[in-house]
Amino acid sequence: MSVRDREATAARLLRSSLDHSYEPAIDIDWDAPLAEDLWGIPQHRSSLYGTALWHDLTEEQRRTLTIHEVCAVARMGLWFEIILMQMLLRYAYDRDPRRPHIQYALTEIADECRHSIMFAKMTERYGVPDSAPRVRTHQLGRLFKTIGAGPAMFAGALIVEEILDQLQRESMRDETVQPLTRMVNQIHVTEEARHVRYAREELIRIMPKINRRQRAAARWSAARVAYVVARDLVHADVYASVGIDPAVGREAALANPHWQGTLRWSARKLVPFLREQGIIGGPAEILWQKAHLV
Ligand SMILES: [Fe+2]
Ligand SMILES: [Fe+2]
Repeated sequence: MSVRDREATAARLLRSSLDHSYEPAIDIDWDAPLAEDLWGIPQHRSSLYGTALWHDLTEEQRRTLTIHEVCAVARMGLWFEIILMQMLLRYAYDRDPRRPHIQYALTEIADECRHSIMFAKMTERYGVPDSAPRVRTHQLGRLFKTIGAGPAMFAGALIVEEILDQLQRESMRDETVQPLTRMVNQIHVTEEARHVRYAREELIRIMPKINRRQRAAARWSAARVAYVVARDLVHADVYASVGIDPAVGREAALANPHWQGTLRWSARKLVPFLREQGIIGGPAEILWQKAHLV
């Protein structure tokens, strides 16, 4: 990947934001009826797909589960967007706001703010309960959003953005998927492509300048984020929507080779890039393995 000058990249991203941005409150028809025979996500991306539990569900229950799953993944995205907004605000607080690079950071915060509302409204529209992160994840996020900076901030953003991008990009093109999901995904994929470019280039600029100790710290915090995101990508409560005990459903999903394959597939562009940058490697890689991302 070629890296431009920091300000030149930001100027280009700012122009693109003007040309291709959405206002979900207006651009999505929130009152459109939901389709009865369509899915929340492509069915082969369900966390239970291929398991005995999946086999025992009716077609309608399977569709219901995927509606809850798309909302759960969006909720994980929303959780991280709030963390990222806070990290980017602290980033901008310390820097010259006349620079395009900082104006783009502020633009990204505005994007994430609209995305979080969009994900919340989608969940509301589908009539799905809020699947807030587990207490430990919630508190880990509180720590990360308070102190996350530098390579850990940009790597963390990339982990969540690129995993969601893979899932959403496939789903937005799938005609078995609800139009609401597809439109939400199209908006998110379009705007996140710029965030990915911003974070990737910044990581390429930062990594050669940090010392060994800083790199080790960045590896551990990125691995921790990756582990939490992969393990909690689908909240256990989704299984209750089809009468499966949440603990039983979660255990089946984590042991499901098909779901493990989906996780690896979702990280297929992320992992080689982070490895090249030295963010994946060393003892922290064990967490990536346990998360089925490598
Ligand atoms: Fe977003
Ligand atoms: Fe983003």
